[in-house]
Amino acid sequence: MLFETHAHYDDEQFDADRDELLSSLADGGVGLVVNPSVTAENAKKVLAMAEKYPFFYAGVGVHPENCANYDEHELAQLRELAQHPKCVAIGEIGLDYYWEENPPREFQQRVFREQMELARERNLPVIVHDREAHADSLTIVKEFPEVKGVFHCYSGSAEMAKELLKLGWMISFTGVVTYKNARKTVEAAEVVPLDRLMIETDAPYMSPVPRRGTRNDSCNLIYIAEKLAEIKGISTEEMIRITEENAKRFFGIK
Ligand code: NI
Repeated sequence: MLFETHAHYDDEQFDADRDELLSSLADGGVGLVVNPSVTAENAKKVLAMAEKYPFFYAGVGVHPENCANYDEHELAQLRELAQHPKCVAIGEIGLDYYWEENPPREFQQRVFREQMELARERNLPVIVHDREAHADSLTIVKEFPEVKGVFHCYSGSAEMAKELLKLGWMISFTGVVTYKNARKTVEAAEVVPLDRLMIETDAPYMSPVPRRGTRNDSCNLIYIAEKLAEIKGISTEEMIRITEENAKRFFGIK
C-alpha cells in the first residue's frame, strides 16, 4: 500500500468532500497518511481527524510561515499535544526564506530550534520544511545530533542530500520530481539509497504530472512512486513496498 508521508487534509480546499475523499483513499491504494500541522490550534484539528480515521496520523508543530504569533504558550500547547498517541512526529517545522512577508529569519530560527528541542525531549522524529534556506536548515539540524528527521518536499542539491544521509536523515519527494524542469531534484533522488526514501503528495498542493494544476490528493502518490522507480531502476511495486516500510520504521507505525 502507498504510505502518504505528508498531506494537509485539514486544508479548506477539502472542506466540501473531506470525509468522502478520506474514505476512498484505500480504493486508490493508499494505506496510511501522516498529516503535519502548521500551528498548535491547527494541530488540534489534525489530531481530531486522526482520532476519526484509523489509518490517519498527525504531526504536531508550527510551520515557519505560520510562526508570527509563536510564544512560550504555544510551545507549551505543542508539548501537551505531542503526547497524543496518534502524534508520530514534530512537524512541520523549519525555515522558509522564500516569502518576504514571512516572520524575520532569526525568529524562524528560534522557533525551529525550540521545536527541535521538543522533539529531542519527546523522542519523536521531525518533519522539516526548508525553502530557500538550505544552509541555515542544515546548521540547525546539526546542532541536534540525537534528533532524526526528514526533509520533506526535498529541494536541495545532491551534495546536501549526502550530508543529511550521513546524519541518518530521510529524504522525501513530492510530485516536483515528475516535472520537466526537475533536473536538480532528480539528481538528488539518484544519490538517496532506497532505505532512506519516502514519498508524499503535499496535498492539496504540488500535483504530479499528469495531474498538474488540479487539486492534489494521496491517490496521486502512484505517479511519484513510478517516477522514483524509473530513476532507481526498480519496479513500481518494489518502490511502493520499500517506501511503505521506510515510513513505518521512521514514524514508528506497526
Ligand atoms: Ni506541508
